[in-house]
Amino acid sequence: MEILIAEDNVVSRNLLQKVLTKQGHRVLAAENGIKAWELFQQNDIEMVITDWIMPGMDGLALCKKIRSLANESYTYVIILTAKDQKEDLVEVFNAGADDYIAKPFDPHELNARVKTGARIVELEIQHKDIANILIESRNKLKIVFDSLEEEIVAIDDKFRIVSANNAFLRNTGATFQEIIGKPCFQDENGSSTGFCDKKVNFLAKRVIESGTPQHSLDTYSDKHGEKRYKRMNCLPVKDEAGKIFQLVIVLKDITDDKIREEKIKALNKRMQETSDEIKVKNEKLEYTLKQLKDTQAQILQAEKMASVGQLAAGVAHEINNPTGFISSNLKTLADYLNDINRLIKQYRMLITELKDNNAEDKITSSIEKLLDQISGIEKEIDLDFIMDDVMDLINDCREGTKRIKKIVLDLKDFAHPGEDKLQATDINKGIESTLNVVWNELKYKATVTKDYGKLPIVKCYSQQLNQVFMNIFVNAVQAIEKRGEIRISTRADNGSVEVRISDTGVGIPKENISKIFDPFFTTKEVGKGTGLGMNIAHNIIKKHNGTINVESEVGKGTTFRIRIPVN
Ligand SMILES: Nc1ncnc2c1ncn2[C@@H]1O[C@H](COP(=O)(O)OP(=O)(O)OP(=O)(O)O)[C@@H](O)[C@H]1O
Ligand SMILES: [Mg+2]
Repeated sequence: MEILIAEDNVVSRNLLQKVLTKQGHRVLAAENGIKAWELFQQNDIEMVITDWIMPGMDGLALCKKIRSLANESYTYVIILTAKDQKEDLVEVFNAGADDYIAKPFDPHELNARVKTGARIVELEIQHKDIANILIESRNKLKIVFDSLEEEIVAIDDKFRIVSANNAFLRNTGATFQEIIGKPCFQDENGSSTGFCDKKVNFLAKRVIESGTPQHSLDTYSDKHGEKRYKRMNCLPVKDEAGKIFQLVIVLKDITDDKIREEKIKALNKRMQETSDEIKVKNEKLEYTLKQLKDTQAQILQAEKMASVGQLAAGVAHEINNPTGFISSNLKTLADYLNDINRLIKQYRMLITELKDNNAEDKITSSIEKLLDQISGIEKEIDLDFIMDDVMDLINDCREGTKRIKKIVLDLKDFAHPGEDKLQATDINKGIESTLNVVWNELKYKATVTKDYGKLPIVKCYSQQLNQVFMNIFVNAVQAIEKRGEIRISTRADNGSVEVRISDTGVGIPKENISKIFDPFFTTKEVGKGTGLGMNIAHNIIKKHNGTINVESEVGKGTTFRIRIPVN
């Protein structure tokens, strides 16, 4: 420690110096107060041990002078005195001294007191450091406090202002000195002016009552009539016992935030509305597109069917005429042939008769020659065989014309051009005639197994139903790679007619099942499929209030199940 001794008695001064130096302190010594004061000012003295009574400047005066300095560090002062009256000691402490040592001093006591002093000086230094840190952080806090755009004011429990930041001062137009200690709110009788609105006063009262922070939003019109928003927060500051001793009021003008928020809200609303509109428009568009596709599919199919129907009807008509006269000629031909046969029989009988009763005078040689020639031709052409076979041939031809007639009828049944009305229909017959129409496509690839149940007559658009069956048959045969089977079964079930058509074709992958009734969905190569067959089938069945389902397994085959209500 840096210790300054002030003692006019040389013996005592030297002793003090010796004892303290021995303890490791750096010691400066002065023989009077004036000298000591000079040394004090020139050095960093941590402790002064001074005699009270000295010439020039005594110890107490020296002490007072030291205390009058606004020193950074603390100096510990011990007064050496022979005075030991109570009032003397009071005087010592009043002068600012920290301790005293009675004269003549005891070196042990001196050391002990110096040690205590050293400890106190150390504590003082620590205290000063802490105080500096505190001041520094308080200053920083104040800078922050003052730079906030929120108005902040602290009031005591009597609602008197204890502190306020720059924003608050700016808004009230008063200086710090003008508001400190003044009532924050106007008196109820209006005798004093206030610095905060009544609404804040109300909030502060609520904090006092509830002991909890309170918030509120103030809306008001400014002097230009513009609507403004102020957020008001009031927070309690409590002591250790939980008693409120201060309130902190934080006010913030949030008009800009509010305007922004409202703008964002309005924008969001507009965006939502626009997106809703777009959604509705999209849905409409999607619906229109679907309708368009359906219509397109229907038109295409109708056109196709109309031309198929017309073609079929034309072909049927053209075939009908020649078939008609072929078949009627064949009948006439058969009748003629019967007649001719009858005649030939008579001729043959005549020839036999002539030969059996041959008399040289009766038959001339020329007749005999003719008879021989006739026998020769008969043998040559095998007349017996011809007479047997020609009838068979005519019968075969007649069978052929019958078959032509049937296929023409089937064709007519299958496609009645322009006939689109409900008809009492035998569905089994419809399937059968459709099968005949597509038979040429089927016969090389599929064995067809039929299991027709007894069906009631159903009122339906028979031509359209035939179209459904045809589309399913064609798909089935297209799905069969080499050879397979197509199985048809029908039955009456619970007021409906059920038709099942199965094939042993390639099957339909799961992901395609839901798409096969969509218009234009096809897995077939360009030119082979338009993707309309199943869509048309679906629409036709729907028109009959019926259902069409599909079950399929890849590699095994596919089954279509159609149900049509009888009524
Ligand atoms: N029996 C079946 N077996 C396997 N796949 C089938 C069968 N029936 C339909 N499909 C699948 O459903 C798709 C749609 O059939 P749809 O009959 O509607 O059109 P398409 O046969 O491709 O063309 P088209 O318009 O010429 O009939 C087919 O491309 C095929 O992938
Ligand atoms: Mg098809």
